[in-house]
Amino acid sequence: MENYKRNIIITGGAGFIGSHVVRLFVNKYPEYRIVNLDKLTYAGNLANLKDVEDESNYVFEKADICDFDKMIEIIRKYKIDGIIHLAAESHVDRSIKDPFTFARTNVMGTLSLLQAAKICWEETVEKYSGKLFYHISTDEVYGSLQFDGTFFTEETKYQPHSPYSASKAGSDHFVRAFHDTYGMPTIVTNCSNNYGPYQFPEKLIPLFINNIRHGKPLPVYGKGENVRDWLYVEDHARAIDLIFHKGKVADTYNIGGFNEWRNIDLVKVIIRTVDRLLGNPAGTSDRLITYVADRKGHDLRYAIDSTKLRNELGWKPGLQFEEGIEKTVRWYLDNQEWLENVTSGDYLRYYDEMYLNR
Ligand code: NAD
Ligand code: DAU
Repeated sequence: MENYKRNIIITGGAGFIGSHVVRLFVNKYPEYRIVNLDKLTYAGNLANLKDVEDESNYVFEKADICDFDKMIEIIRKYKIDGIIHLAAESHVDRSIKDPFTFARTNVMGTLSLLQAAKICWEETVEKYSGKLFYHISTDEVYGSLQFDGTFFTEETKYQPHSPYSASKAGSDHFVRAFHDTYGMPTIVTNCSNNYGPYQFPEKLIPLFINNIRHGKPLPVYGKGENVRDWLYVEDHARAIDLIFHKGKVADTYNIGGFNEWRNIDLVKVIIRTVDRLLGNPAGTSDRLITYVADRKGHDLRYAIDSTKLRNELGWKPGLQFEEGIEKTVRWYLDNQEWLENVTSGDYLRYYDEMYLNR
């Protein structure tokens, strides 16, 4: 086996954010071996990584993080010293319908990965030295803010409301417990809403771009007054890179771009941008806005204070929102085939064709 400077597992690397993190690490660090560990649920799509799949420092392992024996096997096999953990069930609406799957993957899966890392790292000569378990979490664990100009900071107490955020909170607690109990080097980061290429079109931005393109209704929950804080996905990936290398062990960092939008205002920006890029007269798709029943337990407002990350590690978002949304809309309009594969389910065959038949 080749000698790599570091051997890193990125879980959930075939998903939306994970694929950007994998791409960044594979290209930026040829001296690292990057193991993309993903179960390939409906949200995992290896076509997201076509451009790096043949790189010599990239490996794909199809595995479920809940499969404890498999986690041990993979960590030993690649002599893993770093884990960047993104694998999760990530969609709030699905968690409302099926909370068990969220508890299984997000809580039990994270625990299984932690325990496997503990066993494998404690049996090495250097023990925990040079190791890191970096857990990617969400601002949703902090609950919901009012329209009062306050922010979530690293000190905000956890108050999750949805089964999704409750399961992410549970996983965050386990990660910190493994540091406090066993001395495992861990870091947790909590990020705001991401947007950009390769996001599964069940989430607001890609769903609405696709619906506008096809003249389909845009289901705005409630009155569209809820506020989310949007960050371009590559800025999140850059923050993960920085924190993985320079973050303080046992610490927590909030990641966000101070970019709050009311859903209905964001929807209007999306409509304007799609119409303009498709050459439609302004206002063509306004009629598609359809107010529907609100999401159960719908959090009112998220807003991340990422001052600590900026002050301590010098990170700041690279992209202005106007530029990010233009880039994003263009990407979805230019990548119809990707969208069609995802919405038809065809992408689920990609693994069989690319990996099993090789
Ligand atoms: P995603 O749903 O697009 O991708 C999740 C990936 O995890 C998929 O590739 C899926 O196949 C994989 N996966 C699911 N269950 C698995 C299991 N049991 N074993 C192995 N792999 C499994 O998610 P995303 O939006 O890219 O989010 C990634 C992470 O970032 C999640 O932990 C999420 O909580 C967190 N996060 C997301 C956002 C956001 O706006 N999307 C914001 C902050 C934090
Ligand atoms: O804040 C970080 C979180 O952001 C991540 O942890 C989650 O994984 C990610 O899915 C996202 O959660 P949200 O629930 O905020 O994202 P979503 O795109 O589902 O919804 C954004 C907002 O738009 C939210 O207020 C609900 C609303 N919405 C969503 C959909 C899908 C609608 O009004 N209509 C819709 O059809």
